[in-house]
Amino acid sequence: MDFETRAIHAGQEPDPTTGSVVVPIYQTSTYVQEAVGEHKGYDYSRVANPTRTALQRCLASLEGAEHGVAYASGLAATTTLMHLVGPGDRVVAVNDVYGGVYRMFSQIYEPKGYLFEWVRAEEINDNLADHLDERTRIVWLETPTNPLLNVIDIRAAVEAAHAAGALVVVDNTFASPYLQQPLSLGADVVLHSTTKYLGGHSDLIGGFLATNDPTIAERLYFLQKSLGAIPGPMDCFLVLPRVETVLYPGLPSHPGHAIAARQMRDFGGMISFLAESEEEAVGLVARTKVWQLAESLGGVESLIEHPARMTHASTAEAPFPAPKSLVRLSVGLESAEDLLADLELALVGAAAAAS
Ligand SMILES: Cc1ncc(COP(=O)(O)O)c(C=O)c1O
Repeated sequence: MDFETRAIHAGQEPDPTTGSVVVPIYQTSTYVQEAVGEHKGYDYSRVANPTRTALQRCLASLEGAEHGVAYASGLAATTTLMHLVGPGDRVVAVNDVYGGVYRMFSQIYEPKGYLFEWVRAEEINDNLADHLDERTRIVWLETPTNPLLNVIDIRAAVEAAHAAGALVVVDNTFASPYLQQPLSLGADVVLHSTTKYLGGHSDLIGGFLATNDPTIAERLYFLQKSLGAIPGPMDCFLVLPRVETVLYPGLPSHPGHAIAARQMRDFGGMISFLAESEEEAVGLVARTKVWQLAESLGGVESLIEHPARMTHASTAEAPFPAPKSLVRLSVGLESAEDLLADLELALVGAAAAAS
């Protein structure tokens, strides 16, 4: 599925208990157990929380990663990653990193015996190999860098680092996964301050790590619960992409088109159509996968419904009942290609059922 669709649906299936279309904020620290160790996958929220799971799966999908682990802040993610190495190990880092990362490395880890070499972005692009030795465990990159916006060639840096046996971490905060996916260029771990573009509304502090390496992932999950730098469920919820209504143009053949064009800025995101029969309409709305079968409208998720039996069931005896073959769509923010493909499949299914 395309990026926009994954942003809205990855990890965010309707809530299994209630069918809630929006991921609930599981504001709980603990979970009841049927017997000792027998539970529904959650026992304590430092270890795992369903809202956090939804966020981790969504952001991992956006980074093209198998594994995603969320933290209380970008720096919480940074310090957690530093637990992959120990005193005596070397970290080669771009010198133009976020100031808080520099402060952590130079004032907290260096005094404990961790070794750092700070290298200019240009020098990393030209001669990274010259700065690596057998003690170098991590090459720490930001690209574009904060604040000078230097750009590092991730693929070339990965080649040099891997040849020397070092991991490559890329802080992708400035680019966001929409613009750049470092794992696809060979990086081992991607870091985000979700406080920034991923949150997008300046209303939370959060961090995130993604990787395709199962050994690193296992360690990161272990460190997440062991160090305890976890984000709360409300902050996880706030990072999950939620945007306002999408617009959709009306058809010139519509009898009200000229008036709408004159008095409306655009034509809105609601579309209805008549299926060939009530049976087909009812079958079709149950067949779509990206379009979710639910009442209401105007959310970022695309919804499909059968008004005669759902939102307008009360008009059945009225002088103007909703046509029984009517299907109503509320267009969300998923990619148009995914929505069209899903609808086409459902319509093909309707044709097959009719023949
Ligand atoms: C590139 C980059 N990485 C990491 C961080 C740290 O993130 P946080 O403030 O969420 O701890 C920041 C914060 O500004 C940043 O700009």
